[in-house]
Amino acid sequence: MSLPRDDGHVHLADYVPPAWRIRHADLAFDLDPDATEVHARLSLAPDPDQPRQPLVLDGEALTLLAIAVDGRPLPADRYAYDGNTLRIEGLAGACELETRVRVHPAGNTRLEGLYQSGRLLLTQCEAEGFRRITFFTDRPDVMPRWRITLRAARERFPVLLANGNPVARRELDDGRHESTWENPHPTPCYLFAIAAGDLDRVTHSVRTAEGREVELNVWAEPADVARCAYALGAVERSLRWDERRFGRGYDLDVFNVVAAQDFTMGAMENKGLNIFNARYILADEATATDADFLAIESVVAHEYLHNWSGNRVTLRDWFQLSLKEGLTVFRDSEFSADLHSRAIKRIEAVRVLRGRQFAEDSGALAHPVRPDRYREISNFYTLTIYEKGAEVIRLLHTLLGEDVFRAGMDRYFADNDGRAATIEDFLAAHAAASGRDLTQFALWYSQAGTPELAITEHFDTATGDYTLTVDQHVPPTPGQPVKQPMLVPLRLALYADDGTAITAAPETDAARNGDLVELVAARHVLRWRGLAGKPLATFNQGFAAPVKIAFSQSPADLARSVRVERDEVYRWDGLQQLATRAILQHDVLAADALEAALQDLLTDPAADPAFVAECLALPDFDTLADAMDPVDPEALLDARDALLDRLSRALAAPLQARYDAMEAAAAQGLDGPAMAARALRNACLGWLTRVDPAAVLAQRQFDRARNMTERGAALRCLLHFDAPGAAAALAAFRGQFAHDPLVTDKWIGWLATRPHASATQAVTELLASEWWKPANPNRVRAVLGSFQRGNPRAFHRADGEGFRLVAGQLPGLDATNPQVAARLLGGFEGWRRLHPPLRAVARATLAGLEGQLHSPDCRDLLARLLVD
Ligand code: BES
Ligand code: ZN
Repeated sequence: MSLPRDDGHVHLADYVPPAWRIRHADLAFDLDPDATEVHARLSLAPDPDQPRQPLVLDGEALTLLAIAVDGRPLPADRYAYDGNTLRIEGLAGACELETRVRVHPAGNTRLEGLYQSGRLLLTQCEAEGFRRITFFTDRPDVMPRWRITLRAARERFPVLLANGNPVARRELDDGRHESTWENPHPTPCYLFAIAAGDLDRVTHSVRTAEGREVELNVWAEPADVARCAYALGAVERSLRWDERRFGRGYDLDVFNVVAAQDFTMGAMENKGLNIFNARYILADEATATDADFLAIESVVAHEYLHNWSGNRVTLRDWFQLSLKEGLTVFRDSEFSADLHSRAIKRIEAVRVLRGRQFAEDSGALAHPVRPDRYREISNFYTLTIYEKGAEVIRLLHTLLGEDVFRAGMDRYFADNDGRAATIEDFLAAHAAASGRDLTQFALWYSQAGTPELAITEHFDTATGDYTLTVDQHVPPTPGQPVKQPMLVPLRLALYADDGTAITAAPETDAARNGDLVELVAARHVLRWRGLAGKPLATFNQGFAAPVKIAFSQSPADLARSVRVERDEVYRWDGLQQLATRAILQHDVLAADALEAALQDLLTDPAADPAFVAECLALPDFDTLADAMDPVDPEALLDARDALLDRLSRALAAPLQARYDAMEAAAAQGLDGPAMAARALRNACLGWLTRVDPAAVLAQRQFDRARNMTERGAALRCLLHFDAPGAAAALAAFRGQFAHDPLVTDKWIGWLATRPHASATQAVTELLASEWWKPANPNRVRAVLGSFQRGNPRAFHRADGEGFRLVAGQLPGLDATNPQVAARLLGGFEGWRRLHPPLRAVARATLAGLEGQLHSPDCRDLLARLLVD
């Protein structure tokens, strides 16, 4: 890591190893919400390969109480603390530095460092929060072993947790007690964690494949512990899966997970002590939807799986962030695919990628999977780092195949265990295991922007020769005007008129690899000779390559390809393409073809209900906007609504039949078929309510609901379609769950996403109500995040009221929690692609924020959003 340059950015090219190493960190906490004292003893040693330098430690918002070196207090002229760094001069060599500092958890609204949530004290350190706890070299390539001692009043804080294994407990005088933990694995400080409070737990012991007894615990406040069982099961499934699929075991005697109501992110993988946003832990069928259960399982898996991809092998610097996040998203998505439906998991990932990551890649905030500079690292926890990063790993898996990929992963873990690694180290392990040169592949990490493949076909009726010409283009992005072609593994198939696959391989200068063609140049030509007739070509089955494909095809051919292809991801995608054309090009033939295909699906008893439900979810606003330039939100949404109205009317009978037929299957249980039945019933309900002003079905489902999946979907329909019973249902629901903030977030979200311009009114009322809790990130997301991302009609109101509603809250939120504010500010990333009148309104709104946002997070984003 390195210091920022004069341009205010930290640059990847400036990396230098730390001048001082920390071999061991011994921390003692006297915990108190109003004044916690942290006593740190750090064993320091200079790097013998570097010229001797003063010791410079990070430290923010710390009150320094005492400082000593090798047991002797340090004279004031030997050190200086400017509020950001502590500089110590004249250290001779290896030594022990002791500091005592005071911090104020109850006043910490940033939720970074040590803070209070409800009656708990907790930490969040990634990326650079540890410097708010004590003086330290706050960078991931400094990896001491740790001893952590916690002392607190026993009554108020009966449970004291930290990283690693518990090694001692004792009672102290005056009602306090003490607990000591040791983490024997070299661990960077961003993975440091403690949690203290009146916690209760569910627990389960397992014996690992290597024979280690491990106690798995999920902790929550006592009232919530009854809803922790599902998360605990997910921990065990994750542990078993990593043993089986990646050969990776767990390496401590305990694995603790803590649920917190106030948490900026989703969850955090601290070594041996994961801390979670309560929404990704607490669940039972009365309060959580099927989607919540699945999200809990996948977030639990994600954080658990970091234990190898992130913790045992950590990052050299924050530019390598995707090395842990992209890889771990790939791993957690494979976990979900192995445990549930692979096709559905893939369809959902493609939805996020297309709708959100592609937009990021073409917007003002586009950046490579490995950025080469940043001003504020918190702003780089993006869909590009996570989702595109996972796609790049998936590409590697596709190119190498499971066995070679696994050999490469084994090698990566073996070579880098206990080290702080780079993306080069990762690629080197895979290059060695596969014998492949991955130089061109590495462009996926350095070039931003979504590659576009323009494919043209030519059929010569005289000779039967068929050619496909594939032109690759990677669009310019901020700071990267010109791009090189990338390595794109393209899967494709040809079908004859009777629907049989044409198995002949094409002649081409591109390398073939099984059913893949490896595109490496700006243009490739593929040629088949002597075909009986013009074939039907299909591309990118399984969405193997995260690219945009332009291939001109009639709606009839597109519909036919959906019928002949067996790949469900492709079939789903084909229907999405038909819908996109029907909406954006008002293509009536596409709408007809879509209607016919959905009719077939709804009446096909063999079709997987979960798949049918995915097909009924038409492309969302973000996905459609990505295909429109400039974006006219109102026109787009009107056209989308018109298509939905038409289809709902035309398909009402089969929708109703499907809805009725699955009543019993949907009754209860979290098994795949029950969840699939509820997913399809709820999809049908949405369509049917759209064309039934009395909302009879939705009202009935609400009244008879057996679980939150049914109740929530019904209430959402009642609210979104302005049903006569909406207000009464909302009041009943609110009363039933008044004391559960996670359920409160749900109904707030449904109000904020009511698809009408007037939803701004509901949001304004919420902001003035007792429900508005700006210090709670989940509540901010429920009120403003869901409005901004989930209500494109109201957010993009032509009069600018939607933009101003969000922007108006930003100064206050920025002062409270900069990361939460920055996320909302990032929701304006697509403003330049809006049509001119709305673009002007967005620009004025953003310009009005200049000088009002003071955090580095928001200032960095605002500058990038407004740069010309
Ligand atoms: N390491 C992150 C948590 C994190 C994110 C810390 C940003 C600091 C800043 C964690 O592993 C993570 O990625 N969490 C995700 C959820 C996950 C399932 C993708 C999150 O919090 O959104
Ligand atoms: Zn992660």
